Amino acid sequence: MNARTTLWPDILACPRTGERLIETPEGLRNLGGQVQFPRLDGVPALFAEPEASLGEWRDRLHLLLVQLDQHAQRLHGTLGQDALLAATRERLTRLHAATLAHRELLADLLAPLELATRRASAQTHLALRTRLPSDQWLTSYYANIHRDWAWGDAENEGSLALLRQVIGPAKLGRTLVLGAGAGRLAWDVHQQLSPSLTVALDFNPLLVLLLARLVRGDTVALYEFPIAPRSISDHAILRELRAPTPTRPEFHPVLGDALRPPFLPGSFDTVITPWVIDILPEAAHLQLARINNLLASEGQWLHFGSLNFNLADPAMNYSLEETLELAGAAGFTRPETSEAVLPYMCSPASRHGRSERVIAMRAKKIAEASAPPRHTALPDWLVTGRAPVPLLPAFRDQAMATRIHLFIIELIDGKRSLRDMAALMEQQRLMTRDEAEESIRGFLIRLFEDAQRGQRY
Ligand SMILES: C[S@@+](CC[C@H](N)C(=O)[O-])C[C@H]1O[C@@H](n2cnc3c(N)ncnc32)[C@H](O)[C@@H]1O
Repeated sequence: MNARTTLWPDILACPRTGERLIETPEGLRNLGGQVQFPRLDGVPALFAEPEASLGEWRDRLHLLLVQLDQHAQRLHGTLGQDALLAATRERLTRLHAATLAHRELLADLLAPLELATRRASAQTHLALRTRLPSDQWLTSYYANIHRDWAWGDAENEGSLALLRQVIGPAKLGRTLVLGAGAGRLAWDVHQQLSPSLTVALDFNPLLVLLLARLVRGDTVALYEFPIAPRSISDHAILRELRAPTPTRPEFHPVLGDALRPPFLPGSFDTVITPWVIDILPEAAHLQLARINNLLASEGQWLHFGSLNFNLADPAMNYSLEETLELAGAAGFTRPETSEAVLPYMCSPASRHGRSERVIAMRAKKIAEASAPPRHTALPDWLVTGRAPVPLLPAFRDQAMATRIHLFIIELIDGKRSLRDMAALMEQQRLMTRDEAEESIRGFLIRLFEDAQRGQRY
């Protein structure tokens, strides 16, 4: 391992300019002084444009609280029906009370986001191209919280044991966990494998703020809503989350983007990517080059999880064989691997649970990789608004579908049948009558079924 001893917070760098960060009485800022990084409940928010990213999370928190209010109202309204089974009333009463309490607990945990704060303009955010992915919500990985800190001993111990198999006698040194989530693997590594420092980075404030409280020794109560509850009492369970033992010094939760990691090059001896390289919207060979740059010479990359890439470009949806080869191209040794079938999200309160054939990999840095291009979430024509919007095939298909859907929706007047509507579509020469009837039915079935489906928050 590298003999450098630079430690927290000297390894921090501005994710916008790459400059070293300095601590001032007002908090962390970059050397040039253009970017000030706030702390939320003591956790540094090291986004390229912190106010814009926090603003997006605030919007998502606001939406989540509104949705929970609406859900509670709906449950309350349903409880007003006369013909309910006693057991139905019991379940709904439980869910109603739990939803209201859940709303308050989340609002309390996320209070450091300061919901009332004025937001940075959308333009700043766009200009820096650091937009949050639209499919990532505060509760996207809510189940992981309970697995990590309430009932998941078998899963957590199995994960650490598999990771140990590839680590062997190697020392971890300064360790970074990218996409650490609710943080249990990062914490177990820190407690049991004695790295000199562990930085647990994730961009989701619910997960990071919770982790920060747990490592401080707090107990945090949060509701679990299992996917397939075993009985009425399992529909909403108040779990007490806590770290099993006091946390060793030098464990640092950080809010930041794994695609713009806020650290100086060569800052770490170990970078761990648990269940993450295949969910990021960037090809793995670019991620590997970035991880290489974060490592000191002879540092190590540890992968843990599955390889289930799902990018638009099929060439980038790498197999295991390709990933092993790409590591070599990114300045690493060919990774050593170890596999095991592990339980995955098997809550004792749920009938649902999976097993996964998990793979752990370890590769040592043997050469410096060329720095990958800075990740940009959006192309120029979206950011500047001046370049022509390209007529992508997806836009063309969407334009046609939207026109037809709008036409159908406008025909719904509470009187026309599906056949009447198909006849009108034929008159407009949009389709033949038979085709129109099929398409209208398909579209309305989707709308109808969506309206029948419950929502999980
Ligand atoms: C599948 S979860 C895995 C979480 C954790 N490593 C575990 O094993 O439970 C993926 C994690 O990556 C985080 N994530 C996704 N995109 C990210 C990004 N661009 N920057 C930082 N974290 C990200 C998510 O918030 C989530 O916690």
